[in-house]
Amino acid sequence: MKGVVLAGGLGTRLRPLTRVTNKHLLPVYDKPMIFYPVQTLVDAGIQEVMIVTGGNNAGEFLRLLRNGEDFGLRQMHYTYQKTEGGIADALSLTRHFVGDDKVVVVLGDNFIQGSIRKAVEDFERQPEGAKIFLKEVEHPQEFGVAVLDGDKVTRIIEKPEVPPSNLAVIGIYMYDKNVFEICSALEPSSRGELEITDVNNAYIRRGTMTYEIIDGWWADCGSFEALLRSNVLVAREKGVEV
Ligand code: G1P
Repeated sequence: MKGVVLAGGLGTRLRPLTRVTNKHLLPVYDKPMIFYPVQTLVDAGIQEVMIVTGGNNAGEFLRLLRNGEDFGLRQMHYTYQKTEGGIADALSLTRHFVGDDKVVVVLGDNFIQGSIRKAVEDFERQPEGAKIFLKEVEHPQEFGVAVLDGDKVTRIIEKPEVPPSNLAVIGIYMYDKNVFEICSALEPSSRGELEITDVNNAYIRRGTMTYEIIDGWWADCGSFEALLRSNVLVAREKGVEV
């Protein structure tokens, strides 16, 4: 199983914090943001990790993460996204790194409290397809939202005005090697990006998508409020009173 952290984008919603640096290098309590998703992969037993970044600050990731020694990795892999093509476009760039393996993809601004180790082991045994994680949230319209029918996800709707459930699709996804063929067949969405939700819906149509609802907290850093909340949650986790 390979691991991929997506850390591109311009972080426009966080300007001016992101005017001179990449969002994923901003501090979250005592570490740069990108440390957390890398640690999530390492804690799940994944030893080969690729970072996809872009923009003007790509070199900073190499200076910061080097060969992954802070995480006990032997080597860290990097690739560069030239354009703002979206999450699925960034993922396509890892095709040669992932090869015929399965892959766990983490958005570089997503944090979870618990471990995904068991889910990764379950997915290793899953013969084919994909697996996503869901979390109940108060404002589902800000995320991809899942529609469930019993133990099946029947559809994911990206940022719906009227959410069909309160289950957000969090930014950690597991895919088999078919993901690259699915990505290459995608058309850009109305925001001009190749959407990860379209990838997930393709797996749902094939009948090979599984899901898990996570217990602990989940946070992303897409807005100032979310960034602040992530800092507070991580600090509290470490016993700091804030
Ligand atoms: C992306 C996905 C969305 C998901 C979210 C999680 O949204 O498109 O489905 O719920 O990440 O953080 P974005 O942050 O790119 O708007």
